[in-house]
Amino acid sequence: MNVLLFGSGGREHALAWKLRESQLVEELYCAPGNVGIAQVAECIPADLADPRAMLEVAQQVKAPLTLVGPELPLVAGVVDEFERAGLTIIGPPRASAQLEGSKAFAKRFMERHRIPTARFEVAEDFEAAVHALDAFGPQVVIKADGLAAGKGVALAATHEEAVASLDAMMRQKTLGPAGERVVMEERLAGEEISFIILTDGKSVAPLAPSQDHKAAFDGDLGPNTGGMGAYSDDSIISPRLQEQILRTIVGPTLSGLAAEALPYHGFLYFGLMLTAEGPKVLEYNVRLGDPETQPTLMRMRTDLVELLQALAEGRLGGLPVHWSPNPSVCVVLASKGYPGKPDTGKAITGFDVAESLGGVKVFHAGTVFDDGRLLTAGGRVLDVTATAENLPAAIERVYAAAGKIHFEGMHYRRDIGAKGLRRLRPGGSAPSLGTNPRGAHL
Ligand code: AMP
Ligand code: GLY
Repeated sequence: MNVLLFGSGGREHALAWKLRESQLVEELYCAPGNVGIAQVAECIPADLADPRAMLEVAQQVKAPLTLVGPELPLVAGVVDEFERAGLTIIGPPRASAQLEGSKAFAKRFMERHRIPTARFEVAEDFEAAVHALDAFGPQVVIKADGLAAGKGVALAATHEEAVASLDAMMRQKTLGPAGERVVMEERLAGEEISFIILTDGKSVAPLAPSQDHKAAFDGDLGPNTGGMGAYSDDSIISPRLQEQILRTIVGPTLSGLAAEALPYHGFLYFGLMLTAEGPKVLEYNVRLGDPETQPTLMRMRTDLVELLQALAEGRLGGLPVHWSPNPSVCVVLASKGYPGKPDTGKAITGFDVAESLGGVKVFHAGTVFDDGRLLTAGGRVLDVTATAENLPAAIERVYAAAGKIHFEGMHYRRDIGAKGLRRLRPGGSAPSLGTNPRGAHL
């Protein structure tokens, strides 16, 4: 069968790589794709903000199965467009995609269905927002309501910082319409994990657990980014914690969606904080995580197309999903300036040497080919991903591979997976519940 994938980042390169492995795929298409994806799929230009144009691409390549990587087209209604045309697409319709598209919607949804999350207030204008700050201590979290490409959350340390963030979002409109409405919420302390499921709204197939590293620098310091690395290891959550997450968070989310007649087919990502009071939802994403997908798919043994087909045909409940017991680690190589404006156009060397190491795959996130040379073309450039028989070996392997690659201004975190190593130490099984030292990041 022909399969079409939408997106152009490291997550989509990992998806394309995994889809290509499937015996069920004849032609693989990706729109718009990237340099790495072009090695395993035919890339086609596409505007991911235009659902109608995306439907035309699917009709042109005659793909009976389409998968969407990023949130923008889901929030814009691409699934509704495909369903009207009778084409199979994996992802939630626009109404359900509000779980990610509007933070106010997500928080009110959680409140209605008693899903554990931080206490919050929603404000529609600056004066009301400043007034609402009184309900919180100085350490308040301020979130733009709409999609803001990872830039919409400010962790204020003082009242003045909180007011400055509100001013930037609501009066100066630094995030455009996304910041016209804000959510303010209490700051939670604990360890963050990513819990991602595939669901048809009733059955749930949890993916192997993963942990992202959102801060730019080692020790979770510096500004927030889209993610500087992630690892997947079974030790991230115990079976008991998984049962608790399914019972207190996933179950009520799916029954809440059903009760509100919001259909859901696809990946659903729960960004969780493991607090002293139990797991709480920081955010929903209506898609796979980037970079969590890269190490997670490296561990997936089940044929991804078979899984997506089962989902589309309502057979997800009967299908076991198999995972390699070996952990995997992904380190993002970023450009100078990222997460601010990145320096681009720098020559990349050592790519082939890194990829030739056993157990290593390097996914492209922001690169271009120019005159036979591989150049940087974005903030997150390459996602070096490795697997090995245990976490220390996987970490050693991923950093050995990262060390082979070079471009001017390249920076990356040296502590991806370190939280997992702490868990492996004697007495280190409990998630650390320290405070989150990250500052505001607008
Ligand atoms: P979000 O996009 O809502 O996941 O927020 C981005 C990041 O901000 C999260 O991954 C957390 O690191 C941090 N964050 C968001 N909400 C809170 C909260 N209530 N307490 C502490 N940290 C938070
Ligand atoms: N890595 C976090 C996200 O994909 O939203």
